[in-house]
Amino acid sequence: MITQKKVIALLVAGIVIGSGCAVSQTYSEEELGLRKVDLYSEKNVVADNTAYSTAAAGESKVFERSYENAPPMIPHDVEGMLDMSKDNNACLGCHLPEVAEAVKATPIPKSHFFDMRTQKVLTELSQARFNCSQCHAPQSNNEPLVKNEFKPDFRAKDAQSRSHLLDSLNEGVK
Ligand code: HEC
Ligand code: HEC
Repeated sequence: MITQKKVIALLVAGIVIGSGCAVSQTYSEEELGLRKVDLYSEKNVVADNTAYSTAAAGESKVFERSYENAPPMIPHDVEGMLDMSKDNNACLGCHLPEVAEAVKATPIPKSHFFDMRTQKVLTELSQARFNCSQCHAPQSNNEPLVKNEFKPDFRAKDAQSRSHLLDSLNEGVK
C-alpha cells in the first residue's frame, strides 16, 4: 500500500536525482568558446569573410568615433595605399591639413605634428606617425560575436567627429 510517507520519500528522491542531473550536465568541446569547434584542432576553423569598404575615398561615409579622441577607422578603400614608407605615403596626398579641405577629407590633427618626447610643435608630420595604418585601420562589415555595450561619453559636441587630443593630453596631470 502506498503510504503518505512513501510518497514524500519518492518526491524527495526525485528532487535529489533531478538536481543531481542538472549539476552533472556536461558540455562538449564544440559547445565551448565562441567558434564552436574542437578546441584542440584548427582543422575546421573557418574565419569569417572580411568585407572592407570598397567605396573610393571621397565617396565613403565616416564611421562613428568609438570614444573621445579615438583614432578614427578608415571608411574608404585603401587598395594600393598601404605600402607606405617614411618618404612615400599616399594618405598625405589628401589628409595633410593644407589639402584636406579641398578634397573634403578630415585633416591630420595637431597631435601628429608634435614631438611627444621633446614636447615641441613640429613644422612637418612627426616621423613617429608616418605609418598611418599602425593606428588607423579599415573596418570589416561583420556581425560581432559578442555585443558591445560600451557607450562613449563625448564631452564636447564636435568630439564625435573631431579629435582634440593635443589640447586635452595632460588634463588632470599636475
Ligand atoms: C584621394 C584622397 C584620399 C586618400 C589618398 C586617403 N584618404 Fe582618407 N579620407 C578621404 C576622404 C575624402 C575622407 C572622408 C570620407 C569620404 O568622403 O570618403 C577620408 C576619411 C578618412 C578617415 C576617417 C576620418 C574621420 O573623420 O572619421 C581616415 C581615418 C582616413 N581617411 C585615413 C586614411 C589613410 C590612413 C589613408 C592612407 C592609407 C587615406 N585615408 C588615404 C580622402 C582620402
Ligand atoms: C601612433 C598612432 C597613430 C599614427 C601612426 C597615426 N595616427 Fe592619426 N590618429 C591617432 C589618434 C590616437 C587619433 C585621435 C586623437 C588625436 O587627435 O591624436 C588620430 C586622429 C587622426 C585623424 C582625425 C583628426 C580629427 O580632427 O578628428 C586623422 C584624419 C588622422 N589621424 C590621420 C592620420 C594619417 C593620415 C596618418 C599617417 C600619416 C596617421 N593619422 C597616423 C593615432 C595615429
